[in-house]
Amino acid sequence: MPLRQRPVAPIWVGGRPQHGEDEFTVTHPWNGSPVGATSWATPGQVETAVRAAVAVAPDLAATSALERSAALEYVRRRIEEESETLAELITAESGKPIMWSRVEVSRAASTFRWAAEEVRRLSGTTQRLDTDPAGAGRMAFTRRIARGPVLGITPFNFPLNLVAHKVAPALAAGCPVIVKPAPATPLSALQLASFLSETKLPHESVSVLPASVELTKRMVSDPRLPVVSFTGSVPVGYDIQQAVPGKHVTLELGGNAAALVCADYSRLDWAVDRIATFGNYQAGQSCISVQRVYAESKIFDEFTSALVEKVQGLKGGDPFDPATQVGPLINVQSAQRVHAWVEEAVAEGAEVLAGGGVPDGADMAPTVLTRVPKKSKVVAEEIFGPVLVVEEVDDVEAGLSAINESKFGLQAGVFTDSLAVAMRAHRELEVGGVVVGDVPSFRADQMPYGGVKNSGVGREGVHSAIEDYTYERVLVLPDVF
Ligand code: SIN
Repeated sequence: MPLRQRPVAPIWVGGRPQHGEDEFTVTHPWNGSPVGATSWATPGQVETAVRAAVAVAPDLAATSALERSAALEYVRRRIEEESETLAELITAESGKPIMWSRVEVSRAASTFRWAAEEVRRLSGTTQRLDTDPAGAGRMAFTRRIARGPVLGITPFNFPLNLVAHKVAPALAAGCPVIVKPAPATPLSALQLASFLSETKLPHESVSVLPASVELTKRMVSDPRLPVVSFTGSVPVGYDIQQAVPGKHVTLELGGNAAALVCADYSRLDWAVDRIATFGNYQAGQSCISVQRVYAESKIFDEFTSALVEKVQGLKGGDPFDPATQVGPLINVQSAQRVHAWVEEAVAEGAEVLAGGGVPDGADMAPTVLTRVPKKSKVVAEEIFGPVLVVEEVDDVEAGLSAINESKFGLQAGVFTDSLAVAMRAHRELEVGGVVVGDVPSFRADQMPYGGVKNSGVGREGVHSAIEDYTYERVLVLPDVF
């Protein structure tokens, strides 16, 4: 697929297409060729977007469920109509293999579809209060109130769907939203903004602003934006939380997601296939791509040799080739950083079972390591690269405790046929989600998604995010009519 140079994409300021001050080029991670351009928002444009969001907030909150739902459903349809163009855009700017970009587009459509449905269910609760003498003759009901303008800061690894996860629930909740997309991958977010501008919602409701670090910090600390929803790295997330302790902050941070393969599991081939695939599916650049794998002793050798064979058989190469399974990392520096961590682990005693070589530009061969010291960065930190660390554990108990031996806790996968083990894993694993019979990388866009420990605070997933962007206001009424 030849890459084409697209016209300079406008930024969206209070729902209007504009051009900022300085243009910048977006390049294809596979070969560095230019694939598009846009511009940085100026301080004046940021101010215009913030004022627009503040001014429109009451009007948006007052729109009916019908209006919001129709707008969200409209965007769902536009995403589906333009699915191939969007998939190509994602691949062009992020280097994600086209097979995975297509999955991301269909997930983004599903995110909007869910938001269109959830907005119809956005209701409060009733409560009887006559449970104690003081409440006799009273009842209460609640409604969910929009918190106000949301600042969404999004990463490069899902340039469309993680933007959808900020915008769709915000609009469903009745909150205007300003998105600051990742500078490496702003084009998909800007394309989404153009679909949003075609809806009947007040156009000031959405801004998408490529913004400098300086201007982003200004927006984070701006009291007129009461909600900050950030997806990205741990240090930046914690900086945000500390900078604005009074704000409602949601952090979707990193992880070193683990899978446990139990000896009782009858579909070892499936476990091998899923772990090989989802350790490498966008060059490991997902917060829930498999990084650590623990296999029980009884099956360790069989599992590991099958895994290595599978990983070595994954097809790398041009992300636009429909057969490519593993593409490049987002840039050369990331590939060099991942390689340096692998070399460091080897110096600390790790054994290389596959890959491990010097990257070719941003492209790095899928790597499998074993016998890695627990303190090595490839185990203890989030690698965000195509690297799997496989270790033998004596039994389920040891496997569960190895998973918990982490400062992160986003999702975990447990391959077992035993309901008792599944229930135990769900009880004991210190994570936001346990996936039984599959990798930790499984995510359906409606389910609650988020972490514990250093993996973040709050939950995304359409319903959870709508709850997060709203608060309950109780009304106490006399129940004597
Ligand atoms: C993430 O990397 O946090 C998002 C993973 C996903 O949506 O599949």
